[in-house]
Amino acid sequence: MRYIIKLSGSILDSKENLIELKKILNEIKVITKNGNKVGLVVGGGRRSREFIETGRMFNLSESELDQIGIALTRINAMVVIGALYDLAYPRVVSDFEDAAMAWNEQKIPVMGGLTPGHSTNAVAALLAEYTRADLLINATKAGGVFDRDPTKYPNALMLENVSIKDLKKIISSSFQAGKYELMDEVALGIIERSKIRTKIIGADAVSLRKALKGKKTGTYIVFE
Ligand code: UTP
Repeated sequence: MRYIIKLSGSILDSKENLIELKKILNEIKVITKNGNKVGLVVGGGRRSREFIETGRMFNLSESELDQIGIALTRINAMVVIGALYDLAYPRVVSDFEDAAMAWNEQKIPVMGGLTPGHSTNAVAALLAEYTRADLLINATKAGGVFDRDPTKYPNALMLENVSIKDLKKIISSSFQAGKYELMDEVALGIIERSKIRTKIIGADAVSLRKALKGKKTGTYIVFE
């Protein structure tokens, strides 16, 4: 099986989360040793948002701010590469052909951001499309898609499935540098055009293990 896993940059934001990152990387080691192929895409996390806000104070353009975000995602990717040691392709991968080459060399390609105008979710969707992955897993802080905003409504319920149409409505409210939350429109466009099997889960090892075993966790994107 071919899996593309997008790791929220928040996983590198605090010491607690770094302990979880270690566990996540162990899960990834296990599935690659079992003969599966994994491609990783790492987000920018809190640091990218902080640097973007600093740049915004000085009126940098949205694409300049995106470039700052991309730089931070690549720094996070470097940490993940170092943590995976000889399992990972040693350089941050910045195009899809190189990701495929890394697989040919039995290495895990690790990517950050690519170009302004979208988030690392779009990079992960494009990588999943390019590599004809069996499953795209988006490991996020949110853990899945809820029927209402869970930060405002404590009774919000996590959906088992969400249609691409409904997800587009949910995400259409925020499209600025540093503010692509759950997914972005570019990512959803790619997922929709290639009907990529996609699951949004929590950024923790237990959720990842369940998703890899096809067990119930998070939210599937469905196409009507
Ligand atoms: P992300 O928004 O993807 O990382 O990238 P994040 O904040 O860690 O998101 P989650 O928690 O993983 O979902 C950080 C910023 O880098 C820029 C955007 O400004 C984005 O908000 N970026 C990233 C790009 O412009 N292009 C890319 O290909 C990737």
